[in-house]
Amino acid sequence: MKNFIDLTEDLDLHKLVQEAQTLKKDPYAHEALGKRKVLGLLFFNPSLRTRLSTQKAAKLLGMEVMVMNFSSEAWAIEYEDGTVMSGLRSEHIREAAQVVSQYCDIVAIRAFASLTDQEKDESEIVLRSFQKYASVPIVNMESATAHPLQAVADAITLKEHWPSHKPKIVLSWAPHPKALPHAVANSFVKMMASQEADFVITHPKGYELDEKITKGVPIVYDQEEALKNADFVYVKNWASYQDYGKILRTDDQWMLTRKKLEATNHAKFMHCLPIRRNVVVSDDVMNHESSLVIKQANNRTYAAQAVLKRILDNE
Ligand code: CP
Repeated sequence: MKNFIDLTEDLDLHKLVQEAQTLKKDPYAHEALGKRKVLGLLFFNPSLRTRLSTQKAAKLLGMEVMVMNFSSEAWAIEYEDGTVMSGLRSEHIREAAQVVSQYCDIVAIRAFASLTDQEKDESEIVLRSFQKYASVPIVNMESATAHPLQAVADAITLKEHWPSHKPKIVLSWAPHPKALPHAVANSFVKMMASQEADFVITHPKGYELDEKITKGVPIVYDQEEALKNADFVYVKNWASYQDYGKILRTDDQWMLTRKKLEATNHAKFMHCLPIRRNVVVSDDVMNHESSLVIKQANNRTYAAQAVLKRILDNE
């Protein structure tokens, strides 16, 4: 693997999940692989899980890690060519990416969607510009449109709890006071394309995700109907995609509760975290033994380790 930007068909997700599960059983098995290699983690947005799990994954492979909060600690970066840089942006991506490449053997980047400029968000300007000008592999730690490391962790978690029958898996929108990006939902949908499951998306009208990503996946606008006989319910908020970045409704009718889960087949509950309790889901869902959220967070380490190992193996 050269870069890890998104879930693509040539990734062989099932093999990657297998590799992650093997690493989980013996995390230090390849601790010499990354010796004298440096992973640079560049954060344009906050993080708990991604930051710590990716660091841990790198350390398990023997790598050194450098972390930088670009939004508060680095010079503001200009991405356009030919700009007269007389404003707030002091450093051009052409130099920044080449300089960082001299210090790091792999660079991982988190840069969320602005949710104000759809075209710019979809061009993945931060991630793609680093990829263009860096001379080392680039890993996506959540970009404007994708969170593939989360999706790999989710695939591992699903596999660990896979029932003996073909499961029904529901991705349900939930309310949230802030406009949130589509990255987690997009990557979950992409990941589900390779799973042998009945997959359904449920959300209020107006919250349709990018059709290029959801193509062929049934959308049920009635959450109660969608939840019937579900084996897994993955909850996530996202802002409107068509009315880009807007919150169309904030009422709690779509909050997931234990009462709603009574219609399911004793469904396991999943969420990428962080989560706003009693807004997105009720306490009784979060605290119930069927919640997989802590296990998902744990699997972030092995997802990242499998990805880093593939990149190191390729070098
Ligand atoms: N799920 C996830 O990416 O968590 P963080 O935003 O805390 O990294």
